[in-house]
Amino acid sequence: MDTQLLPSEPKLSILEHLEAFSSTVNFEDKYFQYCTFFVVFNPVFWNIVARTEYNYRLLTRLTKSPKTGCYLLALIIFSLGLLRDYMFNQALRQQLPLTLLQNGTVKCLAVLCFAMGQLLVITSMYRLGIIGTYLGDYFGILMKERVTGFPFNISNNPMYQGSTLSFLGTALYYGKPAGLVITLFVYIMYKVALRFEEPFTAMIYAKKKF
Ligand SMILES: *[C@@H]1O[C@H](CO)[C@@H](O)[C@H](O)[C@H]1NC(C)=O
Repeated sequence: MDTQLLPSEPKLSILEHLEAFSSTVNFEDKYFQYCTFFVVFNPVFWNIVARTEYNYRLLTRLTKSPKTGCYLLALIIFSLGLLRDYMFNQALRQQLPLTLLQNGTVKCLAVLCFAMGQLLVITSMYRLGIIGTYLGDYFGILMKERVTGFPFNISNNPMYQGSTLSFLGTALYYGKPAGLVITLFVYIMYKVALRFEEPFTAMIYAKKKF
């Protein structure tokens, strides 16, 4: 077939795609900014509180028990997460979609990402329990043994990867580049958080043996 006869869309260069992508993102929208704030603030907050707990036992003293202290922190972290997710959904509503992302293939991929993300988050929470999920080791409540069952046999950090995949899935589903930008921030923040958390957790468990 002679393709010249078909009305074809003008081919965009990569630069033009990037321009189209970034022009749909409204960085000045307040929900976009609130969401970015929580994406950055939350992991910084829980790392500071957890280390303070490890060193000074403030929540343990306040609640008279490491377990209750950890539940209190869990509640705070969970609420901050809900707030972040709310801001994310509000931010997505305000932003423009990109035509390139609005098709069945992308929607399908989006559903897969979201489902995989939720599976990772839910199963890892099921494996670790509330205390294990919400930094119990910083309260001196250590796991008896390393968790190796699914999803920990396919990922070292299923909670963070699952959360990132859920953001990615949602952003793709609505075809909003602004959502992809926030997903990138989420990805970076979890990477940074792990740099602080992994060696510290390893240190806590190494001390336990002696
Ligand atoms: C991880 O565990 C699940 C369930 O026990 C199993 O079906 C899966 O094959 C395992 N994956 C790997 C890579 O070992």
